[in-house]
Amino acid sequence: MSTERSGAVGRRGARLPSELASLLAKYDRPGPRYTSYPTAPAWHDISAEDMRKALRSYVVEDEAGRAAALSLYVHIPFCQERCLYCGCNVVIAPRDKVSDPYMQALRREMQMIRTELGKRRRVTQLHLGGGTPTYLQPAQLEDLMRWMHEDFEFEPDAEISIEVDPVVTTDEHLRTLRQVGFNRISMGVQDLDPHVQETVHRVQPKELTERFYRLCRDLGFDSVNMDLIYGLPHQSVESFARTVDQVIAWRPDRIAVFNYAHVPWIKPHQERMPAEALPEPREKVAIFLDTTRRFTDGGYEAIGIDHFAKIDDALAVARREDEQSHVVARRPVAAPFQHRELQAGDESGGAAACPSCWRGAAARSRSGKLVRSYSLKAAAGTLGIRLQWVTPSGVRPNRSHQRR
Ligand SMILES: C[S@@+](CC[C@H](N)C(=O)[O-])C[C@H]1O[C@@H](n2cnc3c(N)ncnc32)[C@H](O)[C@@H]1O
Ligand code: SF4
Repeated sequence: MSTERSGAVGRRGARLPSELASLLAKYDRPGPRYTSYPTAPAWHDISAEDMRKALRSYVVEDEAGRAAALSLYVHIPFCQERCLYCGCNVVIAPRDKVSDPYMQALRREMQMIRTELGKRRRVTQLHLGGGTPTYLQPAQLEDLMRWMHEDFEFEPDAEISIEVDPVVTTDEHLRTLRQVGFNRISMGVQDLDPHVQETVHRVQPKELTERFYRLCRDLGFDSVNMDLIYGLPHQSVESFARTVDQVIAWRPDRIAVFNYAHVPWIKPHQERMPAEALPEPREKVAIFLDTTRRFTDGGYEAIGIDHFAKIDDALAVARREDEQSHVVARRPVAAPFQHRELQAGDESGGAAACPSCWRGAAARSRSGKLVRSYSLKAAAGTLGIRLQWVTPSGVRPNRSHQRR
């Protein structure tokens, strides 16, 4: 869609096609952060007993009669400082206070879940999300992966991924991650413009990001992803284009371009950013249209609502080849896409059994107090954390969303 046609003009002069401008006027309402469907408010707690039943029911067998493999998600909800735009489930805490108890609780919950799932299950995908998982020290990440291998059997070609903040992630972290098997990495970049960075309290010089990216490449991660956000204070089509062009020049394998979710009634720290500097909706749409054009002209394919992948990336290839059969699935957690072939036959339950528990830990971890209560529950041997998606027609356990 061209942004050159006549239509509404935004505050900073963004020009939109008139039909798009009228759609915007009609649907310009605050909503949940739309990174997956169903969105977060559709998820509710269920009882420990129902959680047990759900976990047991995930023993789906593949054609060879083996229990289907799993994809796992582990949430490390901590950061040492808060970015003002942040909409994630994060606890800001000094490392020495919370990381050891949280690790012990994770260990306990992994064992409980393994017990419910039955025999040692195969794993095709593991993702560590946050917060910032490299809040943990390299030695703690080694422990976590050792426990993982004790409880689960990883396929030789399993995707093992992590999301990191380059500002706090050390060279030693990166080396350790490679040593313990991580083969995919996702780094937050957001915006390279220094004025935007200062305003949102996320100062990450371009040189630091570039060095970090090069080290990831040198260490041989199979896939490197960058996260950007459009809609932050002081962004314009022109300013964000500079970030996008630099990212294209670096050539990460995948890029997420998130629409900034401004939800100060849920995340009061967002009020500390100057509201008058936020781009208005039509400027945001113009930024996204321009960004899409730049990435697609630059050798990337648009996937879903906010992702781009190099045209030879497995995800882009899968999307092209399987456009008719719709086999690219999107998950409600941080490693959002997977080609169904990689899911070892179980596209729904198996894939989401463990993630929901640990994602639940995140959802309940908005304060240090709740983390403590999570830790106590896990220590007491209770499956204390559980989320389930409740549809109008009833309960639907943890199914990954499939485009139809
Ligand atoms: C858990 S963070 C990624 C890892 C690390 N904590 C970092 O910030 O670099 C996940 C991503 O969510 C995105 N994000 C955070 N808050 C957001 C918001 N309010 N709206 C849209 N995207 C947001 C950012 O792009 C961020 O990189
Ligand atoms: S580092 Fe990432 S998770 Fe932590 S506050 Fe910033 S955006 Fe949120």
